Amino acid sequence: MRAPSTTGHADGEQLRDHIAAELARARSRTALLTEVVDDADLMRQHSPLMSPLVWDLAHVGNQEELWLVRDVGGREPVRCDIDELYDAFKQPRRDRPALPLLPPAEARAYLGTVRDKVHDLLEAVSFTERPLVADGFAFGMIVQHEQQHDETMLATHQLRSGPAVLHAAPPPEPSARVGGSVLVPAGAFTMGTDIDPWALDNERPAHVVDLPAYVIDAAPVSNGQYAEFIADGGYTDPRWWSAAGWAYRVEAQLAAPLHWQPDSDGWAYRRFGRTERVRSDEPVVHVCFHEAQAYAAWAGKRLPTEAEWEKAARWDPATGRSRRYPWGDDDPTDAHANLGQRHLRPAPVGAYPAGASPLGVHQLIGDVWEWTSTPLRGHPGFTAFPYREYSEVFFGDEHRVLRGGSFGTDRSACRGTFRNWDYPIRRQIFSGFRCARDAHPDESHR
Ligand code: AVJ
Ligand code: FE
Repeated sequence: MRAPSTTGHADGEQLRDHIAAELARARSRTALLTEVVDDADLMRQHSPLMSPLVWDLAHVGNQEELWLVRDVGGREPVRCDIDELYDAFKQPRRDRPALPLLPPAEARAYLGTVRDKVHDLLEAVSFTERPLVADGFAFGMIVQHEQQHDETMLATHQLRSGPAVLHAAPPPEPSARVGGSVLVPAGAFTMGTDIDPWALDNERPAHVVDLPAYVIDAAPVSNGQYAEFIADGGYTDPRWWSAAGWAYRVEAQLAAPLHWQPDSDGWAYRRFGRTERVRSDEPVVHVCFHEAQAYAAWAGKRLPTEAEWEKAARWDPATGRSRRYPWGDDDPTDAHANLGQRHLRPAPVGAYPAGASPLGVHQLIGDVWEWTSTPLRGHPGFTAFPYREYSEVFFGDEHRVLRGGSFGTDRSACRGTFRNWDYPIRRQIFSGFRCARDAHPDESHR
């Protein structure tokens, strides 16, 4: 979400209030996700892909201590003895349960102590003195970091066995008929940003990208569409898969999205501890890049490139400008998108007409992260800020970019420029996709 700029608020009071509110909002989400299970459950590893929840919890506090208490505030360390334990690069996820982690009560007390110091220094900080604190960036980065771990913790909850502990209202029903695809005309657009004060290093700088005309799906691929691919033998025909994708399909014995179970009348789905029917008009979720790529090939299409996704989400044909969201520059409201763990599932296709782009592309923001065909790299002119380990160390061919956020993503960590990434085999994340294709010459001259 947009941080109020210090420009015009010389005393920074409005920015201070905004930061305090965003820190509090993140913390209440963290508290909820870690209070609904008991201590043994917090310490347990629910999947080798994930940390024990209590590791995420103390890691959130440790990052806040490193960046805000020590760096921005220049204060004494709260606990320098635990930095190694909560360093994601020093501790691979599968090894984390064996570490001498802070027990839940100690972890909670640590987060409280760190947060008290942050409130204290927030009162005194001047927002213009260093690039790290200009426009409250370091605070925004820490808000987003906590919210990102809250999404990771939600994915851990989805992998957890046992009765349901999370509850949420269902998303809205469809109020628009959405289907088919949209032609995006050829031309240049601005990708990335220089002006969003809390945009992270990999979203910068703004730069012009010229794209040929292309066609993109008006909605994410639904469970019903994906089930047709399965029924048509999509998982047993190597023709649709890349070589790496097929090798992984065979090795991991993929036959359907993660958490789908065949039953007597089709497909059931295990979601946050409850078994339900797979609903055909919901965007498919928990597919890996290889599955998305195979579906697209079967459908006679392909995945969009990252630039195609961003042009569809941000380019305003009326002005030629790139905006922050498909609907404009305003922060998301509940009417625009399914974000923030408000509903614990993707919304059916057609549920967010107010969030559509001017060209009529729906549900780009929220619901499911969308795989793109693009490996993660820096935008031209990229500089790591404030640390190489946020994104630069992940640049290369190993990861694919995902865009748009999911129902589990907070609005503070989601915008038209926000970039997520993962290995092409990962599907424990809230990942889906939409398809695209090149425009035919006759279409592009309409
Ligand atoms: C950007 C979502 C891939 O979860 O690994 C959290 C975010 N970076 N802590 C991740 C992040 C450091 C990151 N992703
Ligand atoms: Fe982290």
